[in-house]
Amino acid sequence: MNDIRWALVTGADRGLGLALTQGLLDQGFHVWAGQYAETSPALQELAAAHGDRLRPLRLDISNAESIAAALNAVKAETDRLELLINNGAILGNITATVQDELDFEEMDQVFRVNTLGALRMTNGLIDPILNSTGKLIVNISSEAGSIRACKRTAWFAYCMSKSALNMQSQLIHNQIAPLGGKVLVVHPGHVQTYMQGKLDTSGRLTPAQSAQHILGLVEQRLSPDWSDEQLALIDYQGERWPW
Ligand SMILES: NC(=O)c1ccc[n+]([C@@H]2O[C@H](COP(=O)([O-])OP(=O)(O)OC[C@H]3O[C@@H](n4cnc5c(N)ncnc54)[C@H](OP(=O)(O)O)[C@@H]3O)[C@@H](O)[C@H]2O)c1
Repeated sequence: MNDIRWALVTGADRGLGLALTQGLLDQGFHVWAGQYAETSPALQELAAAHGDRLRPLRLDISNAESIAAALNAVKAETDRLELLINNGAILGNITATVQDELDFEEMDQVFRVNTLGALRMTNGLIDPILNSTGKLIVNISSEAGSIRACKRTAWFAYCMSKSALNMQSQLIHNQIAPLGGKVLVVHPGHVQTYMQGKLDTSGRLTPAQSAQHILGLVEQRLSPDWSDEQLALIDYQGERWPW
């Protein structure tokens, strides 16, 4: 039992999270797949194919009680988590500028999911992560969080939530790097997913293609020889983006 490698992916119902889950299963991981929606036919199909290597886990990362229940289930099974992928996120309004009416309630929720959701998960799982061999936290960020590269005039909640996720990643890196912990903060590319409420077919990458690249970066970082002296925001191809 001791050589089981556990990973956890949030927002695994569909899109990139589902593809990352599939990719990790292919690599031999046991995966806790955070399921936000009440039902996820895609996850059920994966579970049927992989038996108890795939554990769908009802998980709303904006909700403290939901997180606590999910973390209890994980910790009842294992005290070592090789890899946490904070993937679940929402977009919010992408058209309103500072000259329009802004929906602050919705912005609150975007922050609760994209920024605080990731931090709650990492905070709740930091002991099993640091107790593992991999010790890796992956924050799926976005080019939209890069302040230096920003040309948009809207997308307030999403862009700000990802910038804050970037800062979160640096703070965590500073704390855990001396303990052998690793953080990967990555822009997955423009991916054909459901972020905009329907399948975005204009994306350059399929979820499987983006996931394959990201899992390549994950594999490098899981190597015992890997260490990042300086954390950087990188994209799925490993190219650096300005913070
Ligand atoms: N697609 C792109 O081009 C792109 C570009 C840059 C960055 N990203 C990032 O990539 C990651 C994956 O997004 P995606 O493109 O695959 O979009 P997606 O298809 O919308 O997937 C997001 C996942 O998060 C789930 N989710 C929503 N609210 C949640 C909550 N409160 N708790 C837990 N899970 C929740 C969604 O569930 P439901 O489907 O049931 O709502 C869905 O499974 C996100 O971090 C996103 O910001 C995507």
